[in-house]
Amino acid sequence: MLPLAVCNHKGGTGKTTSVAHIAAALGLSGHQTLVIDLDPQGFLSRMLGIPEAAREDTALALFEHDREPGEVQIFGMSGFDLIPSSSLLTKRMRSLNKPTDVLWVKESIESGLLGREYDVVLFDTAAAVTVFSLNALVASRHALIPVLPEYQGVVGAEQTFQTIKLIRKRLNPRLQRTHFLFTQVDGRKGIHQSYRQYMRKKYEGHVLDTIIRTSTSLAESYEDGTTLFDHDPQARGARDYANVTDELMRKIQADGDGAAATDAEAPVPDASTPTPETLNS
Ligand SMILES: Nc1ncnc2c1ncn2[C@@H]1O[C@H](COP(=O)(O)OP(=O)(O)O)[C@@H](O)[C@H]1O
Ligand SMILES: [Mg+2]
Repeated sequence: MLPLAVCNHKGGTGKTTSVAHIAAALGLSGHQTLVIDLDPQGFLSRMLGIPEAAREDTALALFEHDREPGEVQIFGMSGFDLIPSSSLLTKRMRSLNKPTDVLWVKESIESGLLGREYDVVLFDTAAAVTVFSLNALVASRHALIPVLPEYQGVVGAEQTFQTIKLIRKRLNPRLQRTHFLFTQVDGRKGIHQSYRQYMRKKYEGHVLDTIIRTSTSLAESYEDGTTLFDHDPQARGARDYANVTDELMRKIQADGDGAAATDAEAPVPDASTPTPETLNS
């Protein structure tokens, strides 16, 4: 099982869109895939048509002691499965304040609680460092940071990379590699090109070559468990996510299962992400 956290401290960078479309692409290539929505705002669950499931049928179940293996409700989507979010996660968060409370999800998915085997488990997270995003990163072997190739987007991505380095050091040495994925790229914008170059140079093997371009069809939400892959698989957004998913899985396989963390040696982001004015000077 490959657990993969999708995170970025900044909102609107394409985390939720990436989780849904990478899950659908994995499903199409024959991977048994589960998505766990750990964002209390539940945009992914809403987008897939499960806006507010009964509390016992949501990700809250991963934070309870009294569940038997196979007891957690799993919803079938088009090509992948979902454990939806609950707005009650926010309330639950107040009582999750012990150091060991970052281990719930890892222990739940490793203890057979899901009741079946998955090839990939993808976590969607909120744009903040919360006990839920920490749970996702502590449970994961790889992390994906969707990045907007603009100043604030790159600052947010660099800060997130730094947080992940700390989590690897303190809580999860099995976290192998962080992958940056550029989303909502507009090829006509010079600044997008420049920030991509800056990131590629600084983080080398951590930046995916494939990118997600801006596409209005990716912003559509069908609310019935389907994605763009069901409606227009030839659309630019679907093709981009298919390519990204291929590259991501190739890189993860190349890293191997037992390999040591590959970004332990990666640069420590300094506080000076270049502004658009200083970027090319
Ligand atoms: N490649 C894209 N092209 C155009 N719009 C996009 C693209 N990816 C995401 N969006 C839109 O941008 C907004 C933020 O995306 P979302 O995936 O919800 O980000 P996050 O989960 O990081 O907050 C949403 O309205 C979404 O539909
Ligand atoms: Mg989101």
